[in-house]
Amino acid sequence: MTRKRPLILALDVTERCNLKCVMCHFSTVDRLPFPPYDSYDANMPVDLFERIASEYFPRAQRVALGCAAEPLMHPRFAELLAIAARHRVPDLWFPTNLIPLTEKTADAIARAGVRTVAISIDGTTRETYERIRIGATWTRLHEKLRMLRGVRRRMIFTWMQANRGELREVPAFAQSIGVAELDVRYVSPTDGVDNTAQFITPDDDAKRELELTARDAVRRGIRLTSFPELETAHPRSLFARAQRRLWRMRAGLDTREQREYAKREREQGCGYPGAHYVIRASGAAFPCVYFEQPLEGDTLQRLLMGLRDGAPIGNCATCAIRRDAMYRPPLSS
Ligand SMILES: C[S@@+](CC[C@H](N)C(=O)[O-])C[C@H]1O[C@@H](n2cnc3c(N)ncnc32)[C@H](O)[C@@H]1O
Repeated sequence: MTRKRPLILALDVTERCNLKCVMCHFSTVDRLPFPPYDSYDANMPVDLFERIASEYFPRAQRVALGCAAEPLMHPRFAELLAIAARHRVPDLWFPTNLIPLTEKTADAIARAGVRTVAISIDGTTRETYERIRIGATWTRLHEKLRMLRGVRRRMIFTWMQANRGELREVPAFAQSIGVAELDVRYVSPTDGVDNTAQFITPDDDAKRELELTARDAVRRGIRLTSFPELETAHPRSLFARAQRRLWRMRAGLDTREQREYAKREREQGCGYPGAHYVIRASGAAFPCVYFEQPLEGDTLQRLLMGLRDGAPIGNCATCAIRRDAMYRPPLSS
């Protein structure tokens, strides 16, 4: 059955962040240089947001109001939320470190029908959190968590050497702050920052820890929206396969969207183009976070034809990074 709202969008409404997390591109820059990088002041103008919302949101099943930067840094974020609200996107959400949250924005979030706020918390203790999230404090985070209301909470935990020993604490911690969904990812290579010292070797201990963490989270009623691949081989017996499938469905790891993505991947060579759009603060639209050319004129058609004919265009030809890259061990390419 085809969807009335087939699109999945991620917008960067600003090119700035308030933090300098050790593994992130912002540890070395103050502003993201997305093309075209010119006249505007790093924040998407409200009238441009309104035009983008009218063009894409009525066809979108999911819209993220943040991607690579910190959406709460947009000085008129509350207005953007009010505009987004008019389009009744079923899954309106955004990732954030939450630190810049104000009472006014917290009210706007509750009123706009935002479904989920995904809060990045890469530590379950003050020491670890403050060592990674440079510029944030544990006290301020908890102050902002108290301010946030009327919306589902997701926690994003980027697993790296600096928080290596805290993964197993994540489900209990997440539950204690009212989290309903969990996104655990390996730290991945990032342009402009040498974060290789943070990589985790995917040895048997690491895999066992991930498996125990996943099972603990699901037992606590927390859904896994994204999680590193846990298995290297599928079970053989029918019974074991059925059990695995049931557990994955319960965990949130076997969804219609994931099946649709896999189908597009099989049919067109990549699951992104045509269904996904990444729109930067300048208004430039891209088919994914990797493709470097903005979509103009017939670029999307040429991209799809290139994939179909086995001759991908632009840096799609050399793209070794797939969506799952972040959820696989960084060393097992
Ligand atoms: C880049 S941030 C932007 C949104 C917002 N500022 C935040 O902190 O959530 C989005 C997510 O990417 C994660 N992240 C940053 N650098 C990463 C890396 N090198 N590998 C994997 N995830 C990373 C962050 O921990 C955060 O959860």
